[in-house]
Amino acid sequence: MRAPIEGIVIVTGASSGIGAEFARQLAARAEVLILVARRKERLDALADELREVRPSLTVAVCPCDLTDGERARNLVSEVVTRFGRIDVLINNAGMGDIGPLETADPGKVDRMLGVNVLGFTAMARAVVPAMVARKRGAILNVSSGFGLVPMPMFAAYVATKHYVDGFTESLRAEVAGLGISVTQLCPGPVATEFEAVAENPFGLSTPAFVEIDAARCARVGIRGLERSKPLVIPGAMAWLMINLGRVTPRPVLRLFNRLTARTMRKQLGRAG
Ligand SMILES: NC(=O)c1ccc[n+]([C@@H]2O[C@H](COP(=O)([O-])OP(=O)(O)OC[C@H]3O[C@@H](n4cnc5c(N)ncnc54)[C@H](OP(=O)(O)O)[C@@H]3O)[C@@H](O)[C@H]2O)c1
Repeated sequence: MRAPIEGIVIVTGASSGIGAEFARQLAARAEVLILVARRKERLDALADELREVRPSLTVAVCPCDLTDGERARNLVSEVVTRFGRIDVLINNAGMGDIGPLETADPGKVDRMLGVNVLGFTAMARAVVPAMVARKRGAILNVSSGFGLVPMPMFAAYVATKHYVDGFTESLRAEVAGLGISVTQLCPGPVATEFEAVAENPFGLSTPAFVEIDAARCARVGIRGLERSKPLVIPGAMAWLMINLGRVTPRPVLRLFNRLTARTMRKQLGRAG
């Protein structure tokens, strides 16, 4: 099945990184592009950029904090009132938190669970009924390689992205044959503001050979959605490493993760 990536398109987390690139690339195909995130000034600047590139495009800026479901539901209902429907949901907004759980800021963990799970789920729940009724629609859920393979020092984030994996696979099966594409994008490291927000305490940078840029990540995600793929992992090195993790027997992976955690704790001692 080929999913129509056109019409009324909503991108969450459009104020930076992968989401801003989704918006730039979808601007050429959408009739209306709805940009969602908290930082309105960033969204306004992106909207101006997109209108300049394609004056016939309608761009709507919708500032919204997606840490709770109710705000996400209100957002979708406002968009539907204004534009009549939503054809494509790019469910991308999210954040991470790096470090051992015992020192994690509990408020930050709550906000992460909010946006990565509650807001994420509410967005999908709000758009799906009309898509089922119209037998048409496309949803791209942005997960992570950590949604497929566990990783120490990332426990709560890993759990939120495993949620996205289970949610996407289940929803995809649920709406199969109803004209709706549901795809998950599981990137490895992408050069965005993600790491600054996640506050990496280890003083180690991501190896360049595995990191890709946000434009490539978005491009591969859009192509995967268009082809109605269940799972897309952008970048050859990330694809290899993530799939290696997926096929490694759990007892071996557990041992590897214990050694990784021990090394990371030592690094934390050196960095701090
Ligand atoms: N970069 C990576 O290495 C990587 C790898 C795997 C998966 N991912 C996933 O990719 C997605 C995009 O992340 P990114 O790398 O592009 O990071 P980013 O540059 O930090 O962008 C995150 C986006 O999410 C928005 N957001 C965060 N909290 C929000 C909230 N409470 N309400 C509404 N919007 C919120 C941010 O906007 P505001 O701050 O303006 O609200 C921003 O637009 C995330 O789901 C992330 O988990 C990233």
